[in-house]
Amino acid sequence: MKCNIAVIRGDGIGPEITDAALSCLYAVGVKFKHEFNYTFPLLGGEAIDATGVPLPPETIEMCNKADAVLMGSVGGPKWDKLPGHLRPEKGLLGIRSAMGLYANIRPAFLYDSMKNASPLKNEVIKNGIDLVVVRELIGGIYFGERGQRRTERGQEAYDTEIYSVAEVERIAKTAFELAMTRRKKVTSIDKANVLETSRLWRATVDFVAKNYPEVTVEHMLVDNCAMQLVKNPSQFDVMLCPNMFGDILSDEAAMITGSIGLLPSSSLGVGTHGLYEPIHGSAPDIAGTDTANPIATILAAAMMLSSSFGLNNETLAIQNAVNKTLNAGYRTADIHSSGFKKVSCSKMGELIAMEILQG
Ligand code: IPM
Ligand code: MN
Repeated sequence: MKCNIAVIRGDGIGPEITDAALSCLYAVGVKFKHEFNYTFPLLGGEAIDATGVPLPPETIEMCNKADAVLMGSVGGPKWDKLPGHLRPEKGLLGIRSAMGLYANIRPAFLYDSMKNASPLKNEVIKNGIDLVVVRELIGGIYFGERGQRRTERGQEAYDTEIYSVAEVERIAKTAFELAMTRRKKVTSIDKANVLETSRLWRATVDFVAKNYPEVTVEHMLVDNCAMQLVKNPSQFDVMLCPNMFGDILSDEAAMITGSIGLLPSSSLGVGTHGLYEPIHGSAPDIAGTDTANPIATILAAAMMLSSSFGLNNETLAIQNAVNKTLNAGYRTADIHSSGFKKVSCSKMGELIAMEILQG
């Protein structure tokens, strides 16, 4: 199969982790006889440095033309002082929106080998953590009207949250479809005791739920959910969230698995077009030191192969290679502890690529 992939290497540790993922894709190409063709659009800080804007028009064109987009990470202190519309993050929001990627899928899974790395007590995680945050990605307060104004009260700033029924319906459908392939439970998160958007969200989720009688649906207020995640994380299967609540809760969900360096995510729209990236950020403090953990990006590439190209065996080959490499005791610095073999980012990429070839 021929696969055209746009690779956004990005800022901070982005280039290192995407290079490691490309080594693994190279191994998949050799082993399963696929041709991976790459383009390298610029986004975020690197785009600002090269062109003055975080999302140049050529980047949108290259991403839309590709079959899928693989991304490292964007952002860093170098660009923190820029005005909102010129920040690297604006480039990421812009490409999500330009590609119509309304569904952000963020699985949080507690690997057996990572149990000691979870900040939660053993008794809290004894039943495991295996949940997926389904986050609405191109609506809500992230995209509503915002600004500053001077009034008789002085300087003010405002952001607005808007959700239409159609926007909630399509993301709810994604969550219910996913739940059907899992433990058949959807927990929809909102703040319906305060926000009007949440009340519409809740009613719409109930409406969509009628088409999925096998799925248990539950509504949970976001503050309670933040607490439940650390009290009893095993209760969650699919967590359906508006944009901002999903942003916040997915960091919490990832952290309690102790393995933020291992978790991939996908952003999907209509059809098979998608953007795949690690859950973690650009870690500018360790950029360029070849010490980052490339596994989340490698697993993001694995997600891409099944979700955008239907290559399920190839996805499994990468996932198995990652498991074997971890089981063989190799660890990057972030997940290293005594008794394990510490390796660099590039070495971890090579070890996993070798496993793919030999597997
Ligand atoms: C994420 C990030 C982004 C977001 C930032 C970098 C704009 O935190 O992907 O979770 O808030 O969506
Ligand atoms: Mn975030």
